[in-house]
Amino acid sequence: MEKVKVCLVGCGWTGANHFNGYRAIPEKAEVIAVVARSDESRAKVEGWGVPKIYRSFDEALKDDEIDAVDICTPHYLHAEMLIGALEAGKHAIGETPACVTRAECEQLRIELWKHPDLKAATGHICRSWPTYAQAKRITSEGKIGGVFYLSSNYAHKPDPDEYPSARTWGRTPYARTRLGISYHSVDLLRWIAGDVDEVYGDYTPHARLAILNFKNGAMGKVFSSGAVVRPYIMSLSVYGDEGTIICWWEEDILHGHLHKSAEWTPESLETTPMHGRGSPEWQYEMENFVTSILEDKRPVCPLSEGIKTVETCLAIDEAMTYGIKVRVRH
Ligand SMILES: NC(=O)c1ccc[n+]([C@@H]2O[C@H](COP(=O)([O-])OP(=O)(O)OC[C@H]3O[C@@H](n4cnc5c(N)ncnc54)[C@H](OP(=O)(O)O)[C@@H]3O)[C@@H](O)[C@H]2O)c1
Repeated sequence: MEKVKVCLVGCGWTGANHFNGYRAIPEKAEVIAVVARSDESRAKVEGWGVPKIYRSFDEALKDDEIDAVDICTPHYLHAEMLIGALEAGKHAIGETPACVTRAECEQLRIELWKHPDLKAATGHICRSWPTYAQAKRITSEGKIGGVFYLSSNYAHKPDPDEYPSARTWGRTPYARTRLGISYHSVDLLRWIAGDVDEVYGDYTPHARLAILNFKNGAMGKVFSSGAVVRPYIMSLSVYGDEGTIICWWEEDILHGHLHKSAEWTPESLETTPMHGRGSPEWQYEMENFVTSILEDKRPVCPLSEGIKTVETCLAIDEAMTYGIKVRVRH
């Protein structure tokens, strides 16, 4: 295969970002088909110059020319579409969360077991932001020593007109875990520190707090809120016994510092501009997915990891609901 022929399913906010990501790598990928159901979606994608526009997902799955399916539909459709794609012999990437229930986690694991030759990934975009990728690299190379604590804040009070598609994501009570879209924070911490053993959490109407005990002995904390009076925050702090990494948003740029001593002279990490403002992360995400197919490599966020992040978030929700510590089951 010289380049991956992709079918994009769902052409809303995320689908358009994925499309532009593929368009930036024409030597590796081509979006040859799109699934657009509504007249509004069809009118939108007609301007994209994609050769085939299907009305339904099932119709698209019968197209033998399609190598890979990219699922950008609401949460509650992710599992059934991922399963459909893998059963049809297509590589697949699904938007976040990978799925919404424990039963779906189990079904997806069975699909992965049935189709070891297909690449399956989850679009945890934070793994494609250069600043976080550098933080991950530094930590993995042991440059901050043994990690003993890490945290992430995901807090945002979006203007409903700025982000209208948020209303369509859920459409099922299963999708509304108390941590909300902070599954990105949970995934970021899991990417850096590995699997979580046990979680605890509590919440008020405006603040949700999760404590994570990682299998490697590190502790983690995720704070989530939709009521903050300040711009978007998706931060990361990683504390090791030989160094500290702090990543934060300022204006619309993600910054990072690496401290190797108690002096006020940290090393700066790569910066990343925010979505839609010159940021390359969608290109990196799509490139990573198609490269995993072309070169038979592990994607940066395999579906197996997306499933584990969902299982961790469901355990956190259970802990918050019952006020107890909960073991994470994978
Ligand atoms: N990774 C990230 O940073 C990130 C950011 C934002 C969102 N997301 C995730 O991306 C997903 C989509 O969010 P969004 O903001 O892109 O939503 P959106 O703008 O509402 O788009 C959803 C799309 O799904 C399509 N759709 C719905 N049901 C379908 C079906 N049965 N078959 C085919 N297409 C169907 C809709 O098309 P029609 O109009 O034709 O029905 C619509 O174009 C969500 O799960 C969300 O969590 C991820």
